[in-house]
Amino acid sequence: MAGDRVPIDAQRTDAPLSRFAVFLVVTVRDRDEARETVRGVVSGIDGLVKTVGFRDLNAGLSCVVGLGEAIWDRLSPARRPLELRAFSPVVGAVHTAPATPGDLLFHIRAERADLCFEFERLLLDELGDAVTVVDETQGFRYFDARDVLGFVDGTANPNGADLPAAALIGAEDPGFAGGSYVVVQKYLHDLRAWAELSTEEQEAVIGRTKADNVELPDAAGPQLAHKTLATIEGEDGGELPILRDNMPFGRPGHGEFGTYFIGYTRRLWVIERMLERMFVGEPAGYHDRILDVSRAVTGSTFFVPSNAVLRSLADPAASAAPGAPDGADAEWLAELPFADRRESLGIGSLRAPTAPTIPTIADPRPEETP
Ligand code: HEM
Repeated sequence: MAGDRVPIDAQRTDAPLSRFAVFLVVTVRDRDEARETVRGVVSGIDGLVKTVGFRDLNAGLSCVVGLGEAIWDRLSPARRPLELRAFSPVVGAVHTAPATPGDLLFHIRAERADLCFEFERLLLDELGDAVTVVDETQGFRYFDARDVLGFVDGTANPNGADLPAAALIGAEDPGFAGGSYVVVQKYLHDLRAWAELSTEEQEAVIGRTKADNVELPDAAGPQLAHKTLATIEGEDGGELPILRDNMPFGRPGHGEFGTYFIGYTRRLWVIERMLERMFVGEPAGYHDRILDVSRAVTGSTFFVPSNAVLRSLADPAASAAPGAPDGADAEWLAELPFADRRESLGIGSLRAPTAPTIPTIADPRPEETP
């Protein structure tokens, strides 16, 4: 992390948990000029982070840009991240996760609401009429990282070396190593219905105690807690965590109380599987009871390129050529949080004869593998 000497690099999915965040989702107009405006703005986003972030380094402004499948193909037609695909609605017997439009996601975080605001203002100025805002949500940290349901949210996030292993693409897709997939969903809560449950009932829904955040043993079933439904295991039985930075939002005067779900993952199928288990149920019919008081109103998937890949989009010719961006072997790899393991990534001149240290875990579902 840059500390307080320089602003946080663009595209740091692991930027610090912040007191404020803006989740901005836009669509890009069909015209070629709109595409070129977007190309210029997103490939130079680190400049804007510096412009605003340097005004108060202690506020830790950060921005992560995600690109949806369609705009990715317009900007970089010759190379596409292996798992990039649009969000598919998940239809359960009772609840549905809808897919909603979105070409670009800007996840803007800072300790000060005014820095988020200023960054967003200048960003939208630069984008002009090339884009249409389809959702803008201002999130805030609520007491000790609680959601508006009253539970501490984010505890099981990976840390240390587990974080890049869970959230960042590795040797399985060398041209996009250091990137990530991100899924966002906006949920609206029925707080009255939630308040009708006893604390014990609420704790059984979430799978943790409310006051002190202690994890409860897994229920014997068939009705599983949220934390169990959202736990996915790989072929070796190990858990495959994701990196979440959910934020509460709301307008009490309008009866609006929400959670903005945001999950970064190295393997898109892991979040897709979590959603299936929540909405369809595991076993089918036993959906996540958090959904009885939480309605998903948006749903979109984006690819988050590493900053170097994002910068490389500035050159339409380079983006039209298959393979990793120029300079991948040096500047680009040095930026990866696991750069000390770069010799194991199997990329370019750093290709190692040995097997990668970061394991590639494929989706074990044969029929659903992309
Ligand atoms: C209404 C929206 C949601 C709320 C209020 C919510 C809240 C929570 C809470 C309170 C926890 C327990 C503490 C923690 O470990 O963070 C949790 C865990 C978790 N949630 Fe959610 N969540 C929501 C939606 C989702 C969605 C849509 C996903 C994935 C698609 C998800 C994935 C997870 C995961 C992976 C865990 C950690 C499970 C574990 O390993 O213990 N959540 N969530």
